[in-house]
Amino acid sequence: MNLKVMMVFGTRPEAIKMAPLARLMLNHPDIDLHICSTGQHREMLASVIDAFGLQVNEDLNVMTKNQTLNSLSQHLLEKLDDAYARYNPDIVLVHGDTTTSFIACFAAFHRHIPVAHIEAGLRTGDLQSPWPEEANRRLTGVLADLHFPPTDAAHQNLINEGVPPDHIIVTGNTVIDALLWMKDSLKHTNWSPSAGSDLAQIDQGRKVVLITGHRRESLGHGFEQICLALCDLAARYPDILFVYPVHLNPQVHDVVHHMLGKQANILLVAPQDYRHFVWLMNRAFLILTDSGGVQEEAPALGKPVLVLRNVTERPSGQPDDQAMLVGTDKDKIVRQASRLIDDPDYYSRFSKPHSPFGDGHACERIIERLCVWKHMQTLDKCA
Ligand code: UD1
Ligand code: UDP
Repeated sequence: MNLKVMMVFGTRPEAIKMAPLARLMLNHPDIDLHICSTGQHREMLASVIDAFGLQVNEDLNVMTKNQTLNSLSQHLLEKLDDAYARYNPDIVLVHGDTTTSFIACFAAFHRHIPVAHIEAGLRTGDLQSPWPEEANRRLTGVLADLHFPPTDAAHQNLINEGVPPDHIIVTGNTVIDALLWMKDSLKHTNWSPSAGSDLAQIDQGRKVVLITGHRRESLGHGFEQICLALCDLAARYPDILFVYPVHLNPQVHDVVHHMLGKQANILLVAPQDYRHFVWLMNRAFLILTDSGGVQEEAPALGKPVLVLRNVTERPSGQPDDQAMLVGTDKDKIVRQASRLIDDPDYYSRFSKPHSPFGDGHACERIIERLCVWKHMQTLDKCA
């Protein structure tokens, strides 16, 4: 009997990080994969599914504009319960720290369905940051049966919390599998943005600084500070183009467009599909972001990254980690970005490609462990 796996994701980063695993599982002779999108995100998720050539088996379509965490959770719990009843999986796969991840785990737990947690064990130690993701990740960690931390540090966090060692395996982060796959595919097809697309406006040879931001704990004051820092940097460096794919959350979108929409050398564009975004990261000279995924991808591409957060659950282990953590303090952002732009020696310290978060083989390790798990379950039943 094949292993019946139900993979649940709902947001852009979960889908990107699950996509290479789904591609492998769909070709695995011993696995029957059922892909369930909760639809916590809509447009931003659809573009990922398309970029990786996937098809979802069911879409719970829960997103509403400006959704609150509680109404989102309530809809997810009900709809996931129905989905589990219909498919009756042997195991549910969840990823990371979103509302989808935790509620999918919680609903499976209520039905006695085992859960495997990918990108497990990341911790800041601060329940308010990232909010609510630190809590989602910890709660999922309590309920999951198998834990796939990306790094040794994340593994240690799980051990410290009492997770049995034989339920954990360090895999590397699947985002590096996704990134390398997309990078290769762009290279082989010599791909570049088509004429007329947003990114076609980027002149060849012009220096590009890429920006992304969306964290709920920074909404309001934090975002205003980030925008003021970008205004300052754009005025200091008129030859540089600052490209900002703006997240669709209205509380991000509206303030960013209001504060930055009229700056000549700031290009505000819609969220980019993964193909365009990987091209853009590769094209950038410097990246400013509060995104976990981008923070993991940037070093693999040899791009210095300033993290627009006060704490991170993703220490890279490099000596300069702290210098790169600039938070939402306007002066600190401007100071660090200017130093990287003005000082080539300083820049070169941060622009050597290295991959502290994964080697591109995380998905294979996850599948191998799931097959062992299935085998052990079968032995237990026979005993
Ligand atoms: C969510 C995750 C966060 C993750 C982020 C990735 C939670 C609590 N947060 O935050 O961990 O880092 O996704 O981007 O799960 N919207 C659209 N179209 C889309 C996507 C979003 O219009 O395709 C708008 C909607 O108005 C939606 C709002 O953005 O209500 C917020 O989306 P939501 O998923 O609740 O939170 P994010 O801030 O995106
Ligand atoms: N990303 C993308 N298009 C964009 C911005 C980001 O494809 O316009 C990708 C990025 O490469 C990374 C992931 O989305 O893999 C990060 O998602 P996000 O920042 O929404 O969430 P987080 O990583 O913070 O959870």
